Amino acid sequence: MCGIVGYIGKQEAAAILVDGLEKLEYRGYDSAGVAIYDNNKLDVRKYKGRLSILEEHLKNVPIKGSLGIGHTRWATHGEPNDVNSHPHVNGSGDIAVVHNGIIENYMKLKEWLIEEGKEFKSETDTEVIAHLVDYYYEGDIVKAVQEAVKRMEGAYAIGVISRKHPDRLVAVRKDSPLVVGIGKGENFIASDIPAILKYTKEVYFLNDGEMAIIDENNIEILDELGRKVEREIFEVTWDVEAAEKGGYPHFMLKEIYEQPKALKDTLSPRINENNEIILDDIKLTKEDLEKINKVVIVACGTAYHAGLVGRYAIEKFARIPVEVDVASEFRYRDPFVDDKTLFIAVSQSGETADTLAALREAKEKGARIMAVTNVVGSRISREADDVFYTWAGPEIAVASTKAYTTQLMAMYLIALNMGIKKGTVTKEKYDEVLTELKALPEKVETLLENIENIQKLADQQFHNENVFYIGRGIDDHVGREGSLKLKEISYIHSEAIAAGELKHGTIALIEEGTLVVALATHDYLYDKMLSNMKEVKARGAYVIGVAQEGNQEIEKSADAVIYIPNTMDELSPILSVIPLQLFAYYIAVARGADVDKPKNLAKSVTVE
Ligand code: F6R
Repeated sequence: MCGIVGYIGKQEAAAILVDGLEKLEYRGYDSAGVAIYDNNKLDVRKYKGRLSILEEHLKNVPIKGSLGIGHTRWATHGEPNDVNSHPHVNGSGDIAVVHNGIIENYMKLKEWLIEEGKEFKSETDTEVIAHLVDYYYEGDIVKAVQEAVKRMEGAYAIGVISRKHPDRLVAVRKDSPLVVGIGKGENFIASDIPAILKYTKEVYFLNDGEMAIIDENNIEILDELGRKVEREIFEVTWDVEAAEKGGYPHFMLKEIYEQPKALKDTLSPRINENNEIILDDIKLTKEDLEKINKVVIVACGTAYHAGLVGRYAIEKFARIPVEVDVASEFRYRDPFVDDKTLFIAVSQSGETADTLAALREAKEKGARIMAVTNVVGSRISREADDVFYTWAGPEIAVASTKAYTTQLMAMYLIALNMGIKKGTVTKEKYDEVLTELKALPEKVETLLENIENIQKLADQQFHNENVFYIGRGIDDHVGREGSLKLKEISYIHSEAIAAGELKHGTIALIEEGTLVVALATHDYLYDKMLSNMKEVKARGAYVIGVAQEGNQEIEKSADAVIYIPNTMDELSPILSVIPLQLFAYYIAVARGADVDKPKNLAKSVTVE
């Protein structure tokens, strides 16, 4: 995920581009750059790191010029560094491109372009676009871009400028967002409205395959076949702050709603046409796996909860014993780790100090290190032997949501991949699980379309000061995540407990009106869960059950029920956590809490 902006007009482009990029930093912030037409050349400045570094450089050595494009990066192909940062240019530096998306056939195009004599500087897929446009350039930049996109497969929103056409900004999109801002004597492009909202509230949305040819007074939109398209102007009615959240009141809600896409982005690129799981950055062979006698998963908070589900998946599919530990404890118990251990660090940020310290400890003891992280080039990813990137995109809300579900997806894919390599999962089971994993993004979407019930329950229950989450098996792990979500954003005391453990102590706390959220999504544990629900209900608890659709029996043991779409028991966490995220969110909203920035917490915990 990256952010792009473009400007053509009479003002100085640099300030407008930087201002726009600032609003897009949520889309990625590992490097930033601009290309501006100045004095008959394209001046390109791009740096690894936050936008402020680019800003500082532009302050020290300003660029004049009123045509430019800018980019803020969330690295996908190639680590974050100055060379891989956008904009990318062709060999002569006459054509500059910014891109958001992934060009899937870039390797093939790159090989061909190298044969054609083009020289590449970066590891990115985007540089291919600059050379491709150059290849087709015969005096008309629009035609060259049109020809280039015909060769590109994948997702893209691109902005292109050329030294030879200082009166023109060209943009095309397919499967990545792009808006065109309509000014007076100036026009804009951007990945998202907030980037240009300060300058105009009138925009055109481009549809898939459409191109915008923009000069300072005119915007022409063409369809895939080059035919002129009439487009209605869209009047933006949001204020700047709301628009930054894409119209959502909080980043957390936005990120909850981004889960279908995040799950799809994490899964799709890893399945090839033969239904094989391809984990590019994991080099574990069948022989390596045979040497491994134990897996240790270490993480903190939400990532730890994903690790608990990971244990279940790896033990089930790969039949290797798994230990899961919180990172802050791992180092202090002189853990049994050696060169036969596979150590998996799970971390959204890839920077969490406790997790990093645990990783180093395991490495010192000879373990093979795998990282499951959301941030390309993060310290944890750099220190690991194998990396699985969860393509959740930047997570801004402190309370983790889409990072968690994509971590679950990662754990399932890793476990299945190990299982098929080791021969501990049958092909039939493998195919069945993979088919269901592919269906999950859509099921999450369906869930997110029907949330009135959850909202209503939150509005009724927000006054509780103690909430218990109970479940058995992986439902217990999901309950822990639901409980953490609730306490961190609503400040309600909450506890999650394995339902069978209740009677060994905690049930003493249940009294008239105590809220208990009971997860009962597993067929083989269903009856046992219903009994546990009856136990707390008999002591006065108000019980909200969570079950798969069709299991109406639960209604006799609960005061209210939230249904999730049917799925395989093994995969239910990806669905059952969604109502819990929403429940916590709406309770926090009802209590007037600062949802995105809960007190005492930070997004990335880089101290032990
Ligand atoms: C809770 C939450 C935290 C993080 C934890 C680990 O919503 O976000 O519990 O999961 O601090 O962070 P990462 O995954 O960045 O290592």
